[in-house]
Amino acid sequence: EIKDTEEKYRPIYHFAPKQGWMNDPNGMVYINGNYHLFFQHNPEKPVWGPMHWGHATSKDLLHWDEKKIALYPDSLGTIFSGSAVIDQDNTAGFGKGAMVAIFTHHNHQEEDRKTGLHENQSLAYSLDEGATWTKYKGNPVLPNPGIWDFRDPKVMWHAHSQRWIMTLATKDCITFYSSKNLKEWNKESEFGKEVGAHGGVWECPDLISMKYKGETKWALLVSINPGGPNGGSVTQYFVGDFDGKQFKADDTAIKWLDWGPDNYAGVTWSNIGDRPLMIGWMSNWQYANEVPTTGWRSSTTIPRVLSLEKVGQSFYVASTVPKEIETAFRPLKKYHGGGAKEVSFEEHLPQAYRLDLKKLEQQAFKVILSNESGDEVVIGYREDQNAYYIDRAKSGKVSFNSEFAKTALAQRLLNNGTLSFSLYVDVSSVELFADGGLTVMTSLFFPNKPITKIRVVGDKKLEFRELSIAEFKK
Ligand code: FRU
Repeated sequence: EIKDTEEKYRPIYHFAPKQGWMNDPNGMVYINGNYHLFFQHNPEKPVWGPMHWGHATSKDLLHWDEKKIALYPDSLGTIFSGSAVIDQDNTAGFGKGAMVAIFTHHNHQEEDRKTGLHENQSLAYSLDEGATWTKYKGNPVLPNPGIWDFRDPKVMWHAHSQRWIMTLATKDCITFYSSKNLKEWNKESEFGKEVGAHGGVWECPDLISMKYKGETKWALLVSINPGGPNGGSVTQYFVGDFDGKQFKADDTAIKWLDWGPDNYAGVTWSNIGDRPLMIGWMSNWQYANEVPTTGWRSSTTIPRVLSLEKVGQSFYVASTVPKEIETAFRPLKKYHGGGAKEVSFEEHLPQAYRLDLKKLEQQAFKVILSNESGDEVVIGYREDQNAYYIDRAKSGKVSFNSEFAKTALAQRLLNNGTLSFSLYVDVSSVELFADGGLTVMTSLFFPNKPITKIRVVGDKKLEFRELSIAEFKK
């Protein structure tokens, strides 16, 4: 049992910094068997503050090795979000195969803030796979044209036009830039002023090439804060086409990547081939600075493989759990068929596990995660609304912020008579992947005692193919 220390909410198979604060994942890049993860980091205090890029690596997406801080604030500002690429052909001249970070310099100086020119894009490079970094002397490479919010560059190699494309959040829209050498950037186009959700500022975009039955499509992820369907920070996306200059969305419907309150600023790994692999920040700006952990704050979500699915005539992005993670659990309990209104696991369960419910007949039901103190996290399905929900109102510590106790609702995209879902639990979080990843919800909770019991309760008799629990292997 985890002791009542400051570490009691630390996740087991998610990355969280040893100490201090983290928000957005940054600069994810894959090289020589290592998944690199950089992140918005205030090493001094567990609250947002002067931003650095922290650094961690993993070989399996489950165990993370926290490294030295990669980028420190300098005279041009603190280091806001951005991306990293491997410059195989030495287009920038830093060296063949250099790891190049493209990030926002955020200047807190009064003078720059007055003119609104306080966010500019800059470069740093590493010739030893991220261990040591040099900032480019010619920074910034993309100076601010007079837009207050001008940040979070996500850069990718566009093979067809043999250029780098930068996807940048520019206040209430996305601006695309192109470059031959990462140093000189030309504006190509804007997207999004008239479409999508605009409840808040647009941040942390990502333009991702995806395949659907051999056809190439493009997904554009855009995080917005606030404006989420359940309040606060959330990631929306568009599916369409990109010709190297312009992105055109297929339709104007608003689509959410994850309906839960705690998946923000997610973007994908670069240099990873045809496998869109995303990771998000598992928190929400509504209360991120106040969650009841001490010494450290925030973690990443489970990395997700993104794929395109068609529902009716429209494309949706499905999020599924990478094989590495899916196979890291060993069977603990298994039931077939059901036939009772309730199935319960009263004995002590581990704090890191997966619950799979396969082919449940479509009906109202709930999964109640609980403990001896009577704390409850309820994940369920409402038949009248055809929606999943997560209710953490009685999950333990909730009063640190009035928004935290609200129930989050997620619209199902299917209505096909059966429900299938997996819950990934890790000490203080639950991630719901339903209907093949078409509806996803991520949510934090802070129980008074470890959550070690589960009850699955139906309105009527539960009829399913399989209900199983698997323990994280460590
Ligand atoms: C998103 C964000 C980014 C910014 C960073 C600052 O969570 O606001 O737009 O670069 O956090 O820490």
